[in-house]
Amino acid sequence: MANDTHPADCLTVPVNLGERSYKIVLPGAGHPWPGDSATDFPTQSPGGLARSRNKSGLAFVVADRGAAPHLASLKASLEKAGYRVESTILDPGEGQKSLTVAASLYEKLLDLKADRKTLLAALGGGVTGDLTGYVAATYLRGLPFLMVPTTLLSMVDSSVGGKTGVNLSRGKNLVGCFHQPVGVWIDIGTLKTLPDREFRSGLAEVVKYGMIMDAPFLEILEQNVAPLMARDPAILGPVVARCCELKADVVSKDEREETGLRAILNYGHTFAHAYETVAGYGAWFHGEAVSAGMQAAAKLAAARGLIPSELVDRQRRLLEAFGLPVERDPTWPVDTMIEIMRSDKKAEAGQLRFILPVRAGEVRLFADVTVAEVVAALGPSK
Ligand SMILES: NC(=O)c1ccc[n+]([C@@H]2O[C@H](COP(=O)([O-])OP(=O)(O)OC[C@H]3O[C@@H](n4cnc5c(N)ncnc54)[C@H](O)[C@@H]3O)[C@@H](O)[C@H]2O)c1
Ligand SMILES: [Zn+2]
Repeated sequence: MANDTHPADCLTVPVNLGERSYKIVLPGAGHPWPGDSATDFPTQSPGGLARSRNKSGLAFVVADRGAAPHLASLKASLEKAGYRVESTILDPGEGQKSLTVAASLYEKLLDLKADRKTLLAALGGGVTGDLTGYVAATYLRGLPFLMVPTTLLSMVDSSVGGKTGVNLSRGKNLVGCFHQPVGVWIDIGTLKTLPDREFRSGLAEVVKYGMIMDAPFLEILEQNVAPLMARDPAILGPVVARCCELKADVVSKDEREETGLRAILNYGHTFAHAYETVAGYGAWFHGEAVSAGMQAAAKLAAARGLIPSELVDRQRRLLEAFGLPVERDPTWPVDTMIEIMRSDKKAEAGQLRFILPVRAGEVRLFADVTVAEVVAALGPSK
């Protein structure tokens, strides 16, 4: 599992990107935060992690209201590391990922007389991370940025890889850039307050890593359904660390989505995008759509003879054990879903492209998938 380069109970996952390299640090269960050991082991607290890469006197924390119970301890840790800490709390929701909200954060930074060294920290899920990262990337052409993800999805996915951005009224993530953080602090303990449906939604992305890259990890998930659902830190910590490690591996080989390798992370996502759109954004959580989307992709792969039907069933059993949906709503119009998939930003010249499993732990890109195959994988309609 992850390199245990820190004493005591900290797991550290390095993200190797040359001069933009950084560390993801996962304190173990029961780790005191802010740690008494912060001086001895400088990166064993979020403040210490930021301080190891940034010498500013000012830190500005952007926190999601849902993550607000964890704000006081983050502030205390940053203060202990010598920062003057200012913060703002945002209402939850995808709507916050907008140019309007970004502009209001620029104004706050101006009011605080922030300079190019000022640390910006995001405390919350993917919405807060993407928005705050975008503001960090663009204010004064770039501020150092600390990620403190507090949803399972943001821990295993959006906090690794440096993609930042906001939405436009005509689509999600249409404006953004790559901006790597100075560090990522993942405290599994913050998940205690996460609503159940959000937690389960994050588990879909966890299953995705097993299916696309790591068959032994898939088995670990299958053997630990109950403790994972109970959010037992003893298993959740190493599982989150492994996901970070797998994503970091892909990102370090294809930082800017140029070689095509990063596309494997989109397993199930072409279907998922169509499901989310026809359901109406928000009706299905992203991870729920990814779950049913992976199941459709696996069925498509089996119909092509790429995988045996046992693997389709195995994936379904695991997703169902995590309380995730595996079928789309049969009333959703098939034609509309096909149209959405054709206009997906990953489709080239309207040609449907899918990431499909070829065995447990391995996927490949297929650019020759026909509409008939997709319709069959979408399952029966009512
Ligand atoms: N940058 C990337 O590479 C990347 C990758 C995947 C997804 N994303 C983006 O991430 C976003 C989705 O992220 P998300 O699923 O984390 O959603 P989110 O940020 O909207 O958070 C989900 C909900 O959880 C609440 N919450 C957060 N932490 C909490 C906690 N500890 N306790 C209680 N409630 C808490 C929030 O208030 C919110 O209501 C999307 O905008 C998506 O585009 C980005
Ligand atoms: Zn996803």
